[in-house]
Amino acid sequence: MTKRPFMKFSHLGILCSGGDSPGMNCALRAVVRTAIFNNIQVTGIKRGYAGLLRGEFEKMNLSSVGNILQRGGTILQTSRCPEFHNPAFRKKAVDILKAQKIDGLIVIGGDGSFTGALALWDEHKFPVVGIPGTIDNDISQTDYTIGFETAVQTAIEAVDRIRDTAHSHARTFLVEVMGRNSSAIAIKVGVCTGAENILLPHEEVDHQQIVDDIQRGILRGKDSSIIIVAEGPTSGRSYKIQKVLKEKYKLDTHVVILGHIQRGGSPTANDRFISSEMGSLAVEQFLKNQFPVVTVLQNGKVTTTDLKNCVKKSDEHYLEHKNLAKILSI
Ligand code: ADP
Ligand code: F6P
Repeated sequence: MTKRPFMKFSHLGILCSGGDSPGMNCALRAVVRTAIFNNIQVTGIKRGYAGLLRGEFEKMNLSSVGNILQRGGTILQTSRCPEFHNPAFRKKAVDILKAQKIDGLIVIGGDGSFTGALALWDEHKFPVVGIPGTIDNDISQTDYTIGFETAVQTAIEAVDRIRDTAHSHARTFLVEVMGRNSSAIAIKVGVCTGAENILLPHEEVDHQQIVDDIQRGILRGKDSSIIIVAEGPTSGRSYKIQKVLKEKYKLDTHVVILGHIQRGGSPTANDRFISSEMGSLAVEQFLKNQFPVVTVLQNGKVTTTDLKNCVKKSDEHYLEHKNLAKILSI
């Protein structure tokens, strides 16, 4: 965080980047309304950095963010933009922002999007503030990212339904959840659904252990087993595990990949509330001349930290709870 002589902001740009997540709209609404409350104009940039480079702008007013609190996804839309890795395109982005007379940029996204935003500051001293938006909950320095709670809730509801069938037919299910290399969704869903096992993204799968756990469960009267599989770098990992369990251990399992069902849907109360707080706080950073920063949740409180602290992934969230799941499903 850099404190500097007073700089008056009259026009902010805002974009969403990377995967959409439920609650992004709440953050956007809070940004627009807090800015207008403070006589700051806001331009919405469509489709992330790609839209920025194409000049896809939309002037925001009070009603452009009306009736969106309950909507998943992002009304601004989002994208992944490979060009942004190239400094020449970042220079072009800053030129476009300046031509629009936008003097500060709010980026809602994950660590990748923040890396792009930090480069705008480092290379061009363009003022940026980040808001953590990804269902993966894998950003350093914040206990929470927008959409994580909704994604977890959606997955829990799905697993509860699967458990009904697993119990009725005495079956074993491998339920694959999103999160790429992050364990957070898998662990939280595993604990909340009483999963018999949680397979973390980079963990070597101990098939023998899985079979032994299931046998032990059967001996003590269990009728079903749910194994939560973190997807890891590519979706579909569960099918490989299923194959080995069948071919080597003669164990039948059913695979359910929850996929993008987890990304959409109406945000939970926390996803609405915390993202609203973060949106408002993001605008206040420009009023206080404090950037480049990211809004974060630390010890239950929404605050800010330097943007450079948030450009690397963290896989610490919930890792300490893996054991809890194991003990409680014994
Ligand atoms: P997330 O922001 O959720 O981590 P990605 O990693 O897909 O999602 O990044 C989203 C976008 O952010 C990328 O498509 C790219 O435009 C930008 N970005 C990611 N990494 C970098 C980087 N190292 N330098 C500049 N821009 C980046
Ligand atoms: O980063 C969010 C996320 O939903 C990951 O959990 C998942 O692996 C990835 O995005 C999927 O990306 P896409 O929607 O581009 O397939």
